[in-house]
Amino acid sequence: MKQLPATLAIFALAFSSIASAQATKPAKAPKAAKPAAAAPAPAVAAKDETTAGIEKYREMLGDDNPAELYEARGEILWKQARGPKNVSLEQCDLGLGAGVIKGAYAQTPRYFADADRVMDIESRIVHCMMTLQGFSEADVRKRPFGSADKPSEMEDLVTYVVTQAKGAKIAPPTAHPKEKEAFELGQAMFHVRAGPYDFSCATCHGTDDKRIRLQDLPNLTKAADNRRAYPGWPAYRVSTSQVHTMQWRINDCFRQQRMPEPKYLSESVNAMITYMAVMATGAEYKGPALKR
Ligand code: HEC
Repeated sequence: MKQLPATLAIFALAFSSIASAQATKPAKAPKAAKPAAAAPAPAVAAKDETTAGIEKYREMLGDDNPAELYEARGEILWKQARGPKNVSLEQCDLGLGAGVIKGAYAQTPRYFADADRVMDIESRIVHCMMTLQGFSEADVRKRPFGSADKPSEMEDLVTYVVTQAKGAKIAPPTAHPKEKEAFELGQAMFHVRAGPYDFSCATCHGTDDKRIRLQDLPNLTKAADNRRAYPGWPAYRVSTSQVHTMQWRINDCFRQQRMPEPKYLSESVNAMITYMAVMATGAEYKGPALKR
């Protein structure tokens, strides 16, 4: 941690706007921290059974993914004249030129000169909502993460945009110095231990074959695991009955890390997404996944 003053400054930046109530919540001991009680053999058997069960469930659902509803709503929103300027998002430049959506998601996060920063897809859509449609920052920050009963517009819009990259290979550009910087920051942050339990992302995602309750945890320090895990987001999550974006996924893992909630679309979260996207380079994007 001593060698990473810049990283920590970013951490401080990202968390500067958090409500102090969150930081003072008594944290419960995480299940993961307890020594495994089960003997190795039954644990392995149980693991295989669970994995098979989840696979079977996916098979039963087949191609039916409720994310399609989000995509349909997102398309309507995308094409609708909205906001104080009463225009649609159709001229939004997602990195491949104004108005090009097809495949654009697969080449994010990337550096955008007009904003002078590296943005993931969700940050870029928000940027277009503000610049093209005239929405205020307060408007877009109001409700970034929805619920099953009331999805947020962001979940609809992101699902629409990412779905247009089905079949594309994940290929975020890495040549710009700020893209390199974002990757390196994301990679460094992945290993920064902090919070009441002194966890880093790597505590849970830095070794092979880790699992918490029913979930297999990818080893996100390895390219192969990133190539499997990264294209799985955004995802329709059966356990919460809704689509979640990658911004949400990282946000929720900061919670698992017992860290304060990062600011929506913060530089640090975008850096982590950049790190994972670059590590996942070459994987085929198959569209929003279906998750437990
Ligand atoms: C205390 C353990 C813990 C920590 C720390 C943690 N995670 Fe996670 N992470 C999980 C669990 C558990 C899941 C699976 C959640 C689920 O499926 O419900 C997960 C899932 C993920 C996924 C999706 C994987 C997939 O295959 O779909 C990503 C990406 C991820 N975490 C990134 C991170 C990042 C980045 C950090 C650091 C900011 C982090 N995690 C910190 C426990 C953790």
